[in-house]
Amino acid sequence: MVYPLFVCSGSGVRKEITSLPGCYHLSADKAAEEARELESLNIPGLILFGLPAHKDARGSSGYDPNGAVPQAIRAIKDAVPEIVVITDVCLCEYTDHGHCGVVDAQGRVDNDTTLELLAKMALVHAQAGADMVAPSDMMDGRVATIRRALDISGFTHTPIMSYAVKYCSAFYGPFREAAESAPAFGDRRGYQMDPANAREALLEAAADIEEGADILMVKPALPCLDIISQVRAMSNLPLAAYNVSGEYAMLLAAEQKGLINGDAAMMEMLTCIKRAGADFILTYFAKRAARFLGD
Ligand code: PBG
Repeated sequence: MVYPLFVCSGSGVRKEITSLPGCYHLSADKAAEEARELESLNIPGLILFGLPAHKDARGSSGYDPNGAVPQAIRAIKDAVPEIVVITDVCLCEYTDHGHCGVVDAQGRVDNDTTLELLAKMALVHAQAGADMVAPSDMMDGRVATIRRALDISGFTHTPIMSYAVKYCSAFYGPFREAAESAPAFGDRRGYQMDPANAREALLEAAADIEEGADILMVKPALPCLDIISQVRAMSNLPLAAYNVSGEYAMLLAAEQKGLINGDAAMMEMLTCIKRAGADFILTYFAKRAARFLGD
């Protein structure tokens, strides 16, 4: 399991996220404490999302070497060197319009201009000590561009976990509140995938393999168990699945209403994602599941 963390600047910040009960906005020092807790629960990795103090059209806080994510990487690596620190690479948390890339005069996301900025961000994360970068923007050609940028700067050993198959999903709702990244206009259908289309998943996965991805990811997990299993069958790369914010929030809501046994439903969800073929799972349930399994 990999646990998602939302990191912000400052110090001493640990603020619960309304849309994701039990998850917090954390400053670097508190993120390091959280990493210690993950280690004590034998959770091997975490993925970082940044909440910048400042947003602009080109998402410049996203590639600031002193931004929230690089600061958190350094603090976590100092405190818990063995934990695998993965970083989400995408502009949507950092742009004032909330899109995953730079927007042109016609209001369209400019794929190729965005690639350079994503590469810059991945490099800043690697330089700060990230063990792995995970592009989630869905621009075409980003894996190749990031791979080249990392290699040229000597980060030949930094793997890329690609959000290869990312559907345009209603289940990201609570995340967008957590990351303050809902698009200000339009939606993400221009770059994220149509949930009705299964074959495109295989094309996207094949493209990312060709470009040098080290790990593939399918997202969201529950509505895409068939896709996880198809991607598992077409590639021998390690496969990740993202059990996303909406999947977490709806289970908690049903549990709170007394409609469902939360622990049993959680374990069934995670087991079935694994059964579909995921080698590992990014999940907000990581701590709760580790505790449950420990008991
Ligand atoms: C950034 C990103 C998103 C998620 C992970 N990376 C939001 C989105 O694409 O809108 C969603 C994760 C979740 O819902 O838990 N692009």
